Amino acid sequence: MNKLSIIVTLSFIGMICYSCQQETYVQGKRIYEVNCSNCHMADGQGLGEMYPNITQSSYFSSNKDQLACLIRYGKQGNQLSNVVMPANDKLTEVGMNNLINYLLHEWGDQSLSNLNEVKEQLENCEQAE
Ligand code: HEC
Repeated sequence: MNKLSIIVTLSFIGMICYSCQQETYVQGKRIYEVNCSNCHMADGQGLGEMYPNITQSSYFSSNKDQLACLIRYGKQGNQLSNVVMPANDKLTEVGMNNLINYLLHEWGDQSLSNLNEVKEQLENCEQAE
């Protein structure tokens, strides 16, 4: 292979990787808009005392190993309000993974979630017992 064809090949691979990452976020964003934004708003800022602002949530950093379970099973109301986050059993594991990638990308530690981690997490949720 000459230099030019190596450069062409590498940039082609780069383009594919870039567009599939973008696609992950596009999918995840759509899932967020359908399943989450009616409470937490499109920008994640939430709604006053009712729905928390999630843009600084620890579920996107130190507690991200509980994020899939939170989304699947929801959360009981906290002490301040009795508002409950409802369970969501409509998302497939792939959809959940795309959603989590979007969340981590927007408001989290920028790490990438992978499907096996999501599956493992969902098998071990406390509520699943
Ligand atoms: C019907 C409204 C509603 C919907 C829909 C909803 N949530 Fe929530 N969410 C809540 C409420 C209320 C809480 C606070 C519950 C608590 O603290 O007990 C919460 C808490 C959270 C938290 C934890 C915030 C923190 O740091 O304590 C995260 C993260 C979150 N939601 C993400 C999501 C995602 C992602 C979706 C979509 C799959 C979603 N929520 C859908 C109402 C909702």
